Amino acid sequence: MSPRLEDLPLRDDLRGMTPYGAPQAPLPIALNVNENTHPVPQDVADDIMDSIALALRDVNRYPDREFTALREGFADYLGHGLTREQIWAANGSNEVLQHVLQAFAGPGRTAFGFAPTYSMYPLLTRATGASWLAGTRASDYSVDASDAAAQVADAAPDVVFLCAPNNPTGTPLGLDVIEAVYDATDGVVVVDEAYFEFAPRDERSALTLLPNRERLVVSRTMSKAFAFAGARVGYLAADPTLIDALRLVRLPYHLSALTQAAASAALRHAPTMLRMVDEIVAQRDRISATVEALGYTPHETWTNFVLFGGVADPATTWQALYDRGVLIRDVGIPNHLRVTAGTEEETTAFLDALASVGSTS
Ligand SMILES: Cc1ncc(COP(=O)(O)O)c(C=O)c1O
Repeated sequence: MSPRLEDLPLRDDLRGMTPYGAPQAPLPIALNVNENTHPVPQDVADDIMDSIALALRDVNRYPDREFTALREGFADYLGHGLTREQIWAANGSNEVLQHVLQAFAGPGRTAFGFAPTYSMYPLLTRATGASWLAGTRASDYSVDASDAAAQVADAAPDVVFLCAPNNPTGTPLGLDVIEAVYDATDGVVVVDEAYFEFAPRDERSALTLLPNRERLVVSRTMSKAFAFAGARVGYLAADPTLIDALRLVRLPYHLSALTQAAASAALRHAPTMLRMVDEIVAQRDRISATVEALGYTPHETWTNFVLFGGVADPATTWQALYDRGVLIRDVGIPNHLRVTAGTEEETTAFLDALASVGSTS
């Protein structure tokens, strides 16, 4: 008989924790984890396959531990005069964030974020032995600069997470908040721009704040706008000295030769990979308008998903949609559900299902 978890000599601080657990179900319409539901275009997929095939010829050797070509690719993609010394990457931005926490949090230290925010921040924090501190947002989930600075000064954390725009609410975050929070702490400030490409085109990124801020980190991912979630590639930009700190905690050769080849090839096709962003934004806005017409209250969103309130019983509505073949996310916010913008057909299927749930419940 296999032992129970309680019977194993598990670390005390991990006892009682639950793993990340977005339901995985083989439903026809999966709009629950903010993926890009548009597949990689065939011509790009062919080029990526060629690059992987080439990398396979040398797979008997360890890969470039410094993933030099890939870092150059990210620096070029991000612009803002960034160079490869300012870039780090790992298997998804989750691992990038884990590296930051391993280097700057850990036992006896704390990390802070404004709740509700990305559910992995507390899990990643606690897994390094650090404690999670939750700050608060206004009732519309916005955060203002002076309140944010006061909360951060009060909490005095070692690492601050600013999710911009925020998951699971979609809420944008002003650069003034980032500046104020940076000035209010001696800790590392991580601006998580996982969804930045879905923001209005003329919006400034936190990358513009990097000069002379050696404790500022801006993280991004290829999982969302780049339609590359399955490849697991995330990255960040920061001062070269902070990047050096991350080398202390990463596993040697953490990015496989195949991952590096695939990501570099995808980056060479950035405009094509990002081609669907406008279409996704159009579907997102269609969701907001339609759920509002159905009597729900969508929150402002600069991401590829919509959080909507006014749901009398989220668990029942979630199940009713599930029974209609549509998987969305109950993120645990009372009276709210979150849905990812899909293709036009998927979005239509979700909206039709939601309309039919409304009329039957
Ligand atoms: C805000 C935010 N950051 C980071 C991630 C992690 O993305 P990945 O590890 O796929 O790069 C996600 C995924 O949903 C997210 O919502």
